[in-house]
Amino acid sequence: MQRWQPKLGLIQETLLLTLHARALDAGQPSPILGDTLSADLAGTIDYDFGKLKVKPNLVLTTALRAKKLDEVVRAYTAAHPGCVVLDLGCGLDTRMFRCAPPPGVDWYDIDFPEVVHLRAACLPGRSHLVGADLTSSDWLTAIPGDRPAMIVAEGLLPFMPGDSFQAMTRALAAHFPSGELALNGYTRFAAWAMKYHPTIKALGIKAAQGFDDPHEPESWGAGLKLVEEQILTRAPEVARFPQPLRALTRLTARSTALSRQGARILRYRF
Ligand SMILES: C[S@@+](CC[C@H](N)C(=O)[O-])C[C@H]1O[C@@H](n2cnc3c(N)ncnc32)[C@H](O)[C@@H]1O
Repeated sequence: MQRWQPKLGLIQETLLLTLHARALDAGQPSPILGDTLSADLAGTIDYDFGKLKVKPNLVLTTALRAKKLDEVVRAYTAAHPGCVVLDLGCGLDTRMFRCAPPPGVDWYDIDFPEVVHLRAACLPGRSHLVGADLTSSDWLTAIPGDRPAMIVAEGLLPFMPGDSFQAMTRALAAHFPSGELALNGYTRFAAWAMKYHPTIKALGIKAAQGFDDPHEPESWGAGLKLVEEQILTRAPEVARFPQPLRALTRLTARSTALSRQGARILRYRF
């Protein structure tokens, strides 16, 4: 079996963290996402995943947020079978394989050029690959702007510096006639606290930004309108969490403020 040796910068290396978490979930007796392709893919990467020290709660929340974002993408592509899908900061996510969109959907996986090169080699698929730094919007000229767009950004927000995530949403909303943006939210505290997370610490990353009020992106000048906030401590899948994490998650679910510090899915229309 061919083994790939990733040559990635620190921010790019975070894609191995989410890949590893999905792979670990797939190996559980009762997986949340059950993404066996991620498990196979992780097996082909020559990397010391153990150094990431991924804990069971990170496996569960990563799998759950991926599942919920998949549901959003599936619903949108079913309702708009001629749309484009943009997976921003796609890393080595197997989302297109999991969502299996209708044939009329054009899917774009976008990440830094070195990530896209790795992806092309180890995860060939039918998506269009775009190698770009999302802090600039030059790459958008390669994307058709006359179709509705489903834009998904998983695990991206805290790694975008300054107000570049906001600027990117303005450029995206101006490019398409209509669409949805779905992301996993990070509160300011969660984004700040990430740098003390053992895994992020192990990678030496200083992740930065988040927002508390799910309505805040409505003021970014992109014409975003909040459609839904899913608090994942209240998701039915929590019933499948092993103890004591299930009990702890159910306790946390009683407080919206506390729950928001963990995984939540935000969906906006423009
Ligand atoms: C935590 S990983 C998540 C990867 C993938 N979405 C997943 O869930 O497996 C963050 C990803 O965002 C990408 N990323 C961060 N900043 C970026 C930027 N300015 N331009 C392009 N990609 C970026 C990284 O390269 C990495 O692949």
